[in-house]
Amino acid sequence: MSLKSKVPGLKSPPAKRAAKVSQRQVRRPLASRLQPSDSDLPFVLVNMAMTADGKIATGNRAVASFGSARDHEQLLELRATADAVMAGARTVDTAKINLGPGGAKFRRRRRQRGLVESNVRVLVSGGGSINPAAEVFQHRFSPIIILTTQRTPATKLRQLRALADEVKICGATEINFRAALRWLRARWGIARLICEGGGELNAALFRAGLVDELHLTVCPKVFGGRTAPTIAEGIGRLQLANAASLKMTSVRRRAGEIFLVFEVIRIAV
Ligand SMILES: NC(=O)c1ccc[n+]([C@@H]2O[C@H](COP(=O)([O-])OP(=O)(O)OC[C@H]3O[C@@H](n4cnc5c(N)ncnc54)[C@H](OP(=O)(O)O)[C@@H]3O)[C@@H](O)[C@H]2O)c1
Repeated sequence: MSLKSKVPGLKSPPAKRAAKVSQRQVRRPLASRLQPSDSDLPFVLVNMAMTADGKIATGNRAVASFGSARDHEQLLELRATADAVMAGARTVDTAKINLGPGGAKFRRRRRQRGLVESNVRVLVSGGGSINPAAEVFQHRFSPIIILTTQRTPATKLRQLRALADEVKICGATEINFRAALRWLRARWGIARLICEGGGELNAALFRAGLVDELHLTVCPKVFGGRTAPTIAEGIGRLQLANAASLKMTSVRRRAGEIFLVFEVIRIAV
C-alpha cells in the first residue's frame, strides 16, 4: 500500500486560507506519515543544533546559525517529511528564516511522499509580540498559522490576522498546546510536525508531554554564557523523576558533527 493511500486528505480549506494560498497547495492531500501517529495529535519532532556546551545561540542572541552545510541539509531533509514546521516568536524575529521546504530537490521529495510542495508554517506568540516585519512573512508560498492567547491586544490581533492565513487563540494567558496541536491536526491535517525552537517553545512542548522525537546536532563549538539559551528553557523540571526520559535511537558522525536522534519515552499514567 502506498504511503499516500494510508493518509486522510486535507479537510476543506477555510475560505480565508484559500484566498492566500493556491488551490494546488491546499487541495492535494497531506500524506506520508513516515511514523504515523494514531492519536488525534500530530507526531512531534524537535530539531535543534547545539554547541558542545549545550547552547543554541550566543548570550546576546546574535549568533544562532553555527551548524555545517550538512546540518542544514539534514534540517531540510527532515522538513521534507513533515506537514508543518513550527517556531517561537523570538526565533522568527531574530533569524532570517522562512521555515520553507528549501530547493527543488526537497520539494520533489515531498511530492514523491505525497506531501504538498511546501509545508505549513506554524508560529507561536502567546502575547502577540512577534515582529510583523520578520522574514517569514515576506514569503507567501504556504499557509502561515499563528498560535496565540487572549493576552494579545485587539490591535495586534488585527495586524497578525492580516499577516497570517489563520490566527488561533489557544488559551486565556497560556497556550494549551495539547488542544492547539489537536486543532492543527483536525483543521489543517497536520499529522507530522517539526518544532525548530527556540528553547522556550521546546520547553513548553516537553512539559506538556507532546514531543515524540528529539533530533539534535552537536556542533564543535563552545559559546559559554549564563544567558545563552539551551534547547529547553522555561521554568524546567525541578526533580529527576519529572525529567523527560529519552532513548537514543541513532548516532551518526558527519562533517565533524554528531547527529543524534532520541525517542521520548512515554510513561503510562
Ligand atoms: N540552534 C538552533 O537550532 C536554534 C533553533 C531555533 C532558535 N534558536 C535561537 O534560540 C533563540 C530563541 O529562543 P527563545 O527560547 O528565546 O525563544 P522562542 O522559543 O523562539 O520564542 C519565545 C517566544 O515565543 C512565544 N512562545 C514560546 N513558547 C510559548 C508558550 N509556551 N506560550 C506562549 N508563547 C510562547 C512567546 O512569544 P510572545 O512574547 O509573543 O508571547 C515567547 O516570547 C534565538 O536566538 C534563536 O536564534 C536556535
